[in-house]
Amino acid sequence: MDYSIETAPLEKLQCDCMIVGVYQDQQLSASAARLNNSTQGLIGKVLNRGDISGKNGETVLLNTIPDSVIGRILLVGLGENKALTGKAYIKALASAVNSLKKPQIKFVVCCLSEIAVEGCGQQWKSRQIVEIFSDAAYQYTHTKSDKGTESQLEKIGITAPETELVSAQIGLDQGKAIAGGISFTKLLADLPANICTPTYLAKQALGLGEKFAKLSISILEESDMETLGMGALLSVSRGSRQPAKLIAMDYQGGEKNSKPIVLIGKGLTFDAGGISLKPGLGMDEMKYDMCGGAAVLGTLQAAAQMNLPLNIIGLIPSSENLPDGDANRPGDILTSMSGKTIEVLNTDAEGRLLLCDTLTYSERYNPDVVIDLATLTGACLVALGRIPSGLLGNDDELCDDLLAASETANDSLWRLPLWEEYQELLKSNFADMANIGGKDAGTITAACFLSRFAENLRWAHLDIAGTAWRTGLTKGATGRPVALLCQYLINRAASQA
Ligand code: BES
Ligand code: MN
Ligand code: ZN
Repeated sequence: MDYSIETAPLEKLQCDCMIVGVYQDQQLSASAARLNNSTQGLIGKVLNRGDISGKNGETVLLNTIPDSVIGRILLVGLGENKALTGKAYIKALASAVNSLKKPQIKFVVCCLSEIAVEGCGQQWKSRQIVEIFSDAAYQYTHTKSDKGTESQLEKIGITAPETELVSAQIGLDQGKAIAGGISFTKLLADLPANICTPTYLAKQALGLGEKFAKLSISILEESDMETLGMGALLSVSRGSRQPAKLIAMDYQGGEKNSKPIVLIGKGLTFDAGGISLKPGLGMDEMKYDMCGGAAVLGTLQAAAQMNLPLNIIGLIPSSENLPDGDANRPGDILTSMSGKTIEVLNTDAEGRLLLCDTLTYSERYNPDVVIDLATLTGACLVALGRIPSGLLGNDDELCDDLLAASETANDSLWRLPLWEEYQELLKSNFADMANIGGKDAGTITAACFLSRFAENLRWAHLDIAGTAWRTGLTKGATGRPVALLCQYLINRAASQA
């Protein structure tokens, strides 16, 4: 799909469909008023008939526009006539985009970047327009015979006044980079576990390394992990015939001596639970247990494409968790890279075993901050559902920065406490700690476990178990939290400039 900024007068923009907003009580946005004038009051007539009230998210498609180079007009309701919240803006935009699924509509002009949004300017708006069109256009076809159904939309024009051309173009470029990262993440996540193995993920990282000069990739093999003493990570992969990989991506966009931001993504390409086998129903969805890793790949791709002036390290510990004669047994005791010992009371709590050794490994980069993302606990779905990702961490400033980025990116987070009192739940009679904390507060005890390996780090953990994919009829990856992480990185780059 092709995106462009359009500064010509609306009436001159030849297109298959033009999207304009209308507010409640029959009030027209500037573009709607302009089109209304150039079409002998067509839009006013539709409003008078009551075909659209202007409620946020409503749409009406006007199918023929007499004597015009504009093929169709899509009216979209915006709600009350005042600055919209970012959320309301995105809701209106998404419903407009989703109602354009006709094969004849190839070139769309979107006039919604003129709409006032609280605290957001032209750049944010054109970025959102790109991200939302791209999100709607994503279709998984990789393992389908019929690949012909990929989006019919070919060209999206975003209108902007001449005076705002520069910010509109910056937003468009950021949007393209972020949307590309999100699509890449979704595709990797949607691929089945018999294709998307740890080796496959490693190859994808190497592919990115070839595309971007500032990005270098190294892959740690099991023998390297052995040498490093990564007993926790290796214990998970012992039960799998696929060799584990620890993918290290090094993006050097900043000053040589500026401390890197480290992103760690759980890359479990399939989680059957191991000897503590999961129930069969819905187990296919455990191909999504690598969504954290996929989001790190997508975020690094976007960061490299945006040429951000930052140093960023992506680390993806990748393995499968399967039952096997050589798999972890409940009661087994492991020695992690940090030297701390772990009693495996449930082999299905494997993500933290991968992450703990990767957290220890991350210390060698002398990071500014470390953020891990993981589909870590079913308990996160119980606590928060599928709306926000869970946020926990040992550094308030980092958590606040992430919360602020999540607001701007409309990729929500909710912070949970990581109080000392919860640590007790991880007591083991036979090792330094157990790998589970019992029935209560599962998301918090998982983060407590990780926190023991992050004592020397400014660290935050995102539990994306509820947000990385949709279940049910629209089952599929969401690409979250790539938008949030990109926003955090953009903010970091801006604050040092
Ligand atoms: N990958 C799962 C978490 C998960 C479950 C994510 C369902 C999304 C949906 C993780 O490895 C796991 O199995 N966690 C266990 C932990 C428990 C044994 C303490 C869980 O949540 O049941
Ligand atoms: Mn598990
Ligand atoms: Zn898992």
